[in-house]
Amino acid sequence: MPAALVDNVVRTPQSPMFGEPDQHQLGMQRYAESCHFCHGAFAVGGGVVPDLRWSALAANEQAWDLVVREGALEKQGMVSFAGRLSKEDTDAIRAYVVQQAWLAVANGDALPPQDG
Ligand code: HEC
Repeated sequence: MPAALVDNVVRTPQSPMFGEPDQHQLGMQRYAESCHFCHGAFAVGGGVVPDLRWSALAANEQAWDLVVREGALEKQGMVSFAGRLSKEDTDAIRAYVVQQAWLAVANGDALPPQDG
């Protein structure tokens, strides 16, 4: 069932790119330290755990914070990082993940958004 769900994910950015190179750099570091283990290398999902590049939650600051800072999906295995990462860190990770989605489009590994 998870495999079927993953196959249904459309590989396309959910948000315009945002942030400065410094922020992307910080996001890359924090992602590598805190998210990579479960969500995969360079924001590439390994299967069951969602690939954050195509996550609609990456498009929305409040929704992202609800999951990443407030632990809305804790029961599903996605713990809150509020105690370990600053808001600046988790914002930077979101900027980095969206940047990686656009990089995948540039590389021909993902589709450009249909309506954005
Ligand atoms: C211990 C493993 C683990 C780590 C570490 C982890 N996650 Fe997760 N994450 C999960 C799992 C499992 C889910 C799927 C929860 C579910 O089934 O809804 C998830 C889901 C998410 C989602 C929801 C995606 C969606 O579209 O449903 C976001 C956003 C997210 N994680 C962000 C992060 C960020 C940012 C980090 C690093 C700061 C991180 N995660 C680190 C396990 C992890």
